[in-house]
Amino acid sequence: MPARGELLARLGLRSPIIQAPMAGGGDSAALVAAVNEAGGFGFVGAAYLTPAQLTERARDIRSRTALPFGVNLFAPQPEPTASAALTEAAVARVAGFYAELGLPAPSAPAYPGDSFATLVPAMLDSGAAIFSVTFGLPPADVVSAAKTRGMRVMGTATTVAEALALEQAGVDAVIAQGAEAGGHRGGFIGDPAANLIGAMALVPQIVDAVGVPVIASGGIMDGRGIAAALALGATAVQLGTVFLTCDEAGIPEVHKQAILDAAILDAAEDQTRLTRAFSGRPARGLVNRFMETVEDRERPDAVLPFPLQNALTRPLRAAAGQQGRAEFLSLWAGQGAPMARRRPAGEVVAALLSGCAATVEKLAGV
Ligand SMILES: Cc1cc2nc3c(=O)[nH]c(=O)nc-3n(C[C@H](O)[C@H](O)[C@H](O)COP(=O)(O)O)c2cc1C
Repeated sequence: MPARGELLARLGLRSPIIQAPMAGGGDSAALVAAVNEAGGFGFVGAAYLTPAQLTERARDIRSRTALPFGVNLFAPQPEPTASAALTEAAVARVAGFYAELGLPAPSAPAYPGDSFATLVPAMLDSGAAIFSVTFGLPPADVVSAAKTRGMRVMGTATTVAEALALEQAGVDAVIAQGAEAGGHRGGFIGDPAANLIGAMALVPQIVDAVGVPVIASGGIMDGRGIAAALALGATAVQLGTVFLTCDEAGIPEVHKQAILDAAILDAAEDQTRLTRAFSGRPARGLVNRFMETVEDRERPDAVLPFPLQNALTRPLRAAAGQQGRAEFLSLWAGQGAPMARRRPAGEVVAALLSGCAATVEKLAGV
């Protein structure tokens, strides 16, 4: 394997720091641009955007920074099915929360369709330098269309089997997502909630298994974490939670505050957990009332498959954000959340770079 500097250059990265795509608004144009200007690589998680919104976001980013950025999509998903009984139970379980927020009673959510194919043309025209996917494999025609435009292609793996499948599909790098990671599990072979391998164990296994560079992700919050990931053989790192509490991040203020002060949720002991309650796919976030009530272990499951549950809870989450009600928001955050600080993104990137260099120096001096 060539030296890390050469691999970074091949991927078009100026440093090992990648700001994770964070669909749902965390990764605002301001965040992406600030990360880029400070020496990192910013990403847009476009899965919940319309093609016009993606085009506008990319234009906004390009107006703020001339440096390259990435676009991420959810890989194509089969249309989900849900019985009438499950749908009724899922709607009933969230109805009380709708009432509490002053919203009209919820009804059975309509399948919004799969966003991937709709977004591909806007992704290809976005001017992005890297295209990445999560939740599955990128289709061969999209991989070749992206590469024809000079884009690099990456995919998310939570197991060695997924990493090998991604390599086979032609990706230029594999993102190894450890169980610590905030947000959705990216797994696609077997049960994504069962494949919970921590980054410390996952990264070297994937590094040994594939011939492409590996990007470590999950629970990395400072320079020590980056140095550890590089020591495990990673070429770069992808960080989400550390950027969520930045001034530029686009999530509701109450979400930032919840990460900074988990005590307001009375969740200090068990701060993050995997849940399907918000979207139907397992994702890691701070424990709150909605999560605990909807996924009540004492009662039968009443959560619709992705993206139906996501559609069911969207109005509720939007209202909760506007009303500052953290107990109803999907408070995505990784296991490193207690290390998050309120800072401008440029300061975060600078601290990550200097912290990594200091750690490497310290280790070399032993
Ligand atoms: C709020 C949030 C939204 C996320 N959305 C996406 C996404 O749209 N696409 C994706 O590939 N990963 C997404 N992720 C996962 C990240 O790519 C990454 O795996 C994770 O943030 C790493 O763990 P950390 O949060 O501990 O740094 C998201 C993570 C968070 C916290």
